[in-house]
Amino acid sequence: VIEERTVYVNGKFVPWNQAQTHLMSHSFGRGSAIFEVFALHDTIQGPAVFRLDEHIERFFRSAALINMKLPISREKLQEAVFATLKENKLRQAEIKIFGFYSQIKIEITPPESEADVAIVAVDPFQDFEPHKVPFERGIAICISKWRKLDPETVPIEAKVAANYLNGVMMMTEAKKRGFENAVMLDTQGFIAEGAVHSIFLVKNNRLMTPSLRTILSSITRKSILEAAQVLGIEAYEGDLRPSLFNEAEEIFLSNTPTKVIPVRQIEDRVLPYVPGPITRKVDGLLKEIVSGRDKRFNHWLFPLR
Ligand SMILES: Cc1ncc(COP(=O)(O)O)c(C=O)c1O
Repeated sequence: VIEERTVYVNGKFVPWNQAQTHLMSHSFGRGSAIFEVFALHDTIQGPAVFRLDEHIERFFRSAALINMKLPISREKLQEAVFATLKENKLRQAEIKIFGFYSQIKIEITPPESEADVAIVAVDPFQDFEPHKVPFERGIAICISKWRKLDPETVPIEAKVAANYLNGVMMMTEAKKRGFENAVMLDTQGFIAEGAVHSIFLVKNNRLMTPSLRTILSSITRKSILEAAQVLGIEAYEGDLRPSLFNEAEEIFLSNTPTKVIPVRQIEDRVLPYVPGPITRKVDGLLKEIVSGRDKRFNHWLFPLR
């Protein structure tokens, strides 16, 4: 049960119900909490964190983008992640690191002091309803009327709570319209991403995904592009026009907790192949990688020491 988990807060372990912050804290009032979400997999060589170095680097980048001073080094944070996993006796986990301001702050400017750091680790299969990815069935998605946050308005590369109202609005619209997920265009009208997913399209056996201009620098997206190279699948990153939604032979979404999710339908268009052959190949290799069976990618796994 999730309430029995132990949470790391500023160098100490506290019981689940004590992992709290004040209503008047800057991060609650202004959404200034940064975070990272990543996974511990039970591989054939034992439990290992997937691309921990990349996630820690992105966490520090989020902090830098919003001028947040973190009280911990990359190395100490990595140790704290391992300690949290061990403290909770986990072999597979979803891990969330937070950087936040617990200080009471009425003004909009953040506190000058160093931020707080917390780490939550839970078992995605035992602690709550697991995400069931309907891989064979695929999902129905819509094209949202909301546009992806424009990089001229906020640093969209920062994984900061305030930026997620964009995805909250989009997913509320999608659910109201009876869709399971959604994608946004950017303010220039090109394909951007989902609320918490990247998007890939396949046309003429070529994998296509939006370039990093208006989307989060996703670690699964980066991994898929690197895996595609090994599979001999041609991949293209660029400005993608929405007419590709009607031309694509395959579409899938991706992120850390769910990996590859095939799209069956986008608006009223039903895709010809679900899951399509390229989607299956990419998903198959990712599964081999996170299980530790593909030696070529063992350097992406950080064994729980
Ligand atoms: C906006 C957004 N896009 C894409 C992703 C996927 O990123 P990753 O593959 O690093 O989980 C996320 C992750 O939650 C996200 O928040």
